[in-house]
Amino acid sequence: MLNIVVCVSGGGTNLQAIIDGISAGTIRNTRIVGVISNNAGAYALKRAEQNDIPGFCISPKNYESRADFNQALMDKLAQLNPDLIVLAGFLVILPQQMIATYRDKIINIHPSLIPSFCGTGYYGLKVHEEALKRGVKVTGATVHYVDEGTDTGKIIFQKAVEVLEGDTPEVLQKRVMEQAEWIILPKAIDEIAMKEN
Ligand code: GRF
Repeated sequence: MLNIVVCVSGGGTNLQAIIDGISAGTIRNTRIVGVISNNAGAYALKRAEQNDIPGFCISPKNYESRADFNQALMDKLAQLNPDLIVLAGFLVILPQQMIATYRDKIINIHPSLIPSFCGTGYYGLKVHEEALKRGVKVTGATVHYVDEGTDTGKIIFQKAVEVLEGDTPEVLQKRVMEQAEWIILPKAIDEIAMKEN
């Protein structure tokens, strides 16, 4: 059984895709042991609650120092003891200690075809704004392992999505989520879970 922790900051639609994949059996041999968010208002925490998954808000705002926040995050992860950590829109700079402790056990979903439109500052709608500004005809999403860099770890899966005439960043973001993110992230988790055993 692959025990996973999903780290979130926002709406949690990727978390929902994982929850739905596990219940539908398209993600095999996997259990979500916890959801961690830095944002108390994240709807993703509601989704966890609705599915009886332990949810935890660990926000830098609630700690005296960054070091205290980092320690709280590491303590929670140690308590949950995941085999895999899934970053699904987690807008937090990860402690170096976390990357070292869980080396090759952290994956991230990025809403572009890396190496395009990625790196520092490229998250959320900005990714799609830049893709539209550049005039690319194809974009997509990437699932990759997390290393010390930003969006630089080994690529696991990518899926292309067409950019259509008249797309706004919001419309393009939704298409990339529906046609790519919600497909390749569950697929990556299932593959890792099946490799496990
Ligand atoms: C997704 O667009 C993902 O690509 C990016 O952050 C967003 C998270 O959305 N990393 P949600 O919280 O899963 O709905």
